[in-house]
Amino acid sequence: MLFVLLLLCSKFDAMKIKVLLCFIALFLFLSCKQDKDTRYTIGVSQCSDDLWRETMNNEMQREIGFHKDANIIIRSVKDDTQKQIEDIEWLIEQSVNLLIISPNESKALTPVIQKAYKSGIPVILVDRRIDTEDYTAYVGADNYQIGKEVGLYAAGILNGRGNIVEMRGWNGSTSDAERHAGFIDGLKNYPEIQIIAEARGNFLKEEAKLQMSHILREYEHIDLVFAMNDPMAAGVYEASRKYTGKTPFIIGVDALSGEGGGIQNIQNNVQDASFIYPTGGDKVVDLAMKILKNQPFHRENTLYTTVIDKSNVRVLQLQTEQIAEQQLKIDSINSSLNDSLVRYTNQKTLFYISIIAIVLISFFLLVSFKAYRAKSKANRLLAHQNEEIKRQAEELREQKEQLLAISKQLEEATHAKLVFFTNISHEFKTPLSLILGPVESLLTDGYLTKEQHELLTLVKKNSNRLLYLISEIIEFRSYENGKMNMHFSEGNLKEFIEDVNPLFSEWIKRKRVNFSFSTDGTSFDMVFDKEKVEKIYFNLISNALKFVNISGEVKVKLKKKNLERGDFAELSVFNSGSYIPPEILRNVFDRFYKVDQGSEGTGIGLSLTAALVEAHKGKIDVWSDESAGTTFCVLLPLVLDNPAMYDSYVSGYTESRLESETDEIGPELQLTTSEDEDKPVVLVVEDNYDMCKFIQHILNKEYNVITADNGVDGLSKAKKFIPDIIISDVMMPGKDGFELCSLLKENVSTNHIPIILLTACSLDEQKLIGFESGADAYIPKPFNAHLLKIRVRKLIENRQKIKEAFGNNLINDTKKESLGEMEQNFINDFQAYVEEYISNSELNVDELADHLKLSRSQLYRKIKSLTNYSPNELIRIVRLKYAKQLLNSKVKSISEVAYKAGFSSPSYFAKCFKDIYGESPTEYLEQL
Ligand code: FRU
Repeated sequence: MLFVLLLLCSKFDAMKIKVLLCFIALFLFLSCKQDKDTRYTIGVSQCSDDLWRETMNNEMQREIGFHKDANIIIRSVKDDTQKQIEDIEWLIEQSVNLLIISPNESKALTPVIQKAYKSGIPVILVDRRIDTEDYTAYVGADNYQIGKEVGLYAAGILNGRGNIVEMRGWNGSTSDAERHAGFIDGLKNYPEIQIIAEARGNFLKEEAKLQMSHILREYEHIDLVFAMNDPMAAGVYEASRKYTGKTPFIIGVDALSGEGGGIQNIQNNVQDASFIYPTGGDKVVDLAMKILKNQPFHRENTLYTTVIDKSNVRVLQLQTEQIAEQQLKIDSINSSLNDSLVRYTNQKTLFYISIIAIVLISFFLLVSFKAYRAKSKANRLLAHQNEEIKRQAEELREQKEQLLAISKQLEEATHAKLVFFTNISHEFKTPLSLILGPVESLLTDGYLTKEQHELLTLVKKNSNRLLYLISEIIEFRSYENGKMNMHFSEGNLKEFIEDVNPLFSEWIKRKRVNFSFSTDGTSFDMVFDKEKVEKIYFNLISNALKFVNISGEVKVKLKKKNLERGDFAELSVFNSGSYIPPEILRNVFDRFYKVDQGSEGTGIGLSLTAALVEAHKGKIDVWSDESAGTTFCVLLPLVLDNPAMYDSYVSGYTESRLESETDEIGPELQLTTSEDEDKPVVLVVEDNYDMCKFIQHILNKEYNVITADNGVDGLSKAKKFIPDIIISDVMMPGKDGFELCSLLKENVSTNHIPIILLTACSLDEQKLIGFESGADAYIPKPFNAHLLKIRVRKLIENRQKIKEAFGNNLINDTKKESLGEMEQNFINDFQAYVEEYISNSELNVDELADHLKLSRSQLYRKIKSLTNYSPNELIRIVRLKYAKQLLNSKVKSISEVAYKAGFSSPSYFAKCFKDIYGESPTEYLEQL
């Protein structure tokens, strides 16, 4: 029930719980009240368990029944002192509130009784005493007085003369000692009375009987026996009857009623007299309760004695019977009273439970009602709050959507900004090329004055600077797009830095900077992207030199650092004289963030540097000290996780190196103007007029330059003129460079023409598209004029070599592998057609061109550029080769062979044969 109540409690608030708990406490108090009445426990230790003790115990039990606030524990031994000590110890352990002890022996029991008394437990001695005064009260008859009265009574019976036997009690008990002393004193005035024998019956019938049998054997004349209690008197009687057939006058003590008691013994002539030794159990309990309740009491409570013999035994018997009857009635009343009490208690408990139940039910009803009302109210509130939450959620959702839209817009704006920057950067490349190219051209002109040269150098320097900034933006964009291509290669970072450092010497000198580069002795042979690391280093050094104070210090340190995730090269660049506060330090690697808003630059230098470091799986950090300066620190892995990453490096890096190196080649590599009037034809396809003009200007001396300003025009001019080489821009209206390239390579008339793509689209993936569409070379803008010239010249020379080799091969009928597959097929088609109509001396080049799906002029230029022969020359070669085969068979005459091979006359055949093979057909035949 309590559990259920507690469970219910959890549903209510603290105040209500308190009220409820009060009820529960009341309930517990009332239901436990019965138990709490039993506040006193009285321990009783009896030294024996005979009739006398039984009577006393019954009296005590009956009396305790009148005290509902006490209970009683009785322990009895059979005249065993040691066991009684243990009993008392046990009762002490039970924390009894009071002890009632009848000590078997005084001396032996004194310590344990003292212990109990001194520990604060009140002790009532009954019947017998101990050796000290350490007890609370005594209840019992005066044993000395009893002994004395027995002595006087015996003297009276014996008329002052006779022999007495004294059957004594337990040796060591005070009742024995005191009764004996009183008895002696009672007889002291009767010298003719003699105690002839004294024996120890120990208050026990059988013991006394045994002792008496011994005495009877010794003494013949015994007038009277004083047995110290009635059981011993009965023992004396039985022994006397047994051994002598007669009995002396026997006096006992106790005079108990009931079976085996002294009163019955007297009536049955077992003994002659008995002195009442009151048990007084009721008085003992009464005294005990007074002591426990701190009421006044007497320490010494003497119970009185009187003699019972034949003269008054009848009266006493009647009285005793009456008392017993009354007692029975009292017991019955008591028992019904007890029953009523139990019923009353139960009913009372039931009443309390009912009251509590009613109160609880009312309470819970009230609480439930209140809870219901509160719940209804709360529900209404909740519904309202729900509405509010829904409304807020809706608002939040809208705000979130707005935020998402804004962030998307922002993202798009950033993206657009980057795309714009990138596009504009690409756009800048062409005009920049047009600045740099002419400037470089002019700078090679030996007729410039010193001042002009300096001014042009300034233009070149700043154009290069612009170009660098543009590349930074483009590179950053490719990083943002996740398209940064890494070109890893093996190298020595230390040597690499040492190579780069001299480039800054001018700047260092100008700012009078104390520059140092130190390493820790590690070899730093590692794999890294040289171009990217150069950019990283360039950015860091440029920053340091930009912000270092005049005559300040720039310290570059390279050392090995062992971290948990591997070994790293730690490259730190320190500069004095600048301080970046912590709030700015956080953002230095963010894009478009500029530490010094007033300084020049795009604001992406450091974020690009960070991106480049990240692309190396490295780490960049910065710290700044107001008094010392600023340090940027880059960690690059000494060992690369994925060595496969550096496959693509060589071509990219070499190309960029080559381009920069050609910058240094200078005028000695310039081609001398060709004496040959039949200059190769270059087709330039470029939508930018200036650029087109510039390229024309570069190539004009050595080539016949024809131009087209878009892809469509370029394609038609290529087909029309079959140029020796085509240079095309990529980004053009209509057909772009890639498409043009593909179309040219698919077309029979133009597929042999080398194509150079010249463009501002310098990203690696763009180059890839260019090569895939068939381009033979890819030169990024801004290009170096010399490099372009070299490329054009080399490609034409290669073509020439192939052509010559092919021409020779054709004549000598050797292999034609110097040409590409498409070109070989073309020549094979040509040859097959001529062989088909070989006897026809009028074989028409126009028909041949038609057959090969080319115009006459296209056929001419195509054949010419492939074989260095004109179509007619090639037809003639085919005829001669056929004729040679016929000659080899020796079946036909020279004239027959000449006509069969389509020559108009044998003499013309002979001339042509000699021109090609260096001997006449006759001479040739002779050798066969
Ligand atoms: C009971 C008893 C009584 C006697 C008393 C003496 O155990 O033997 O018969 O009077 O003890 O202490």
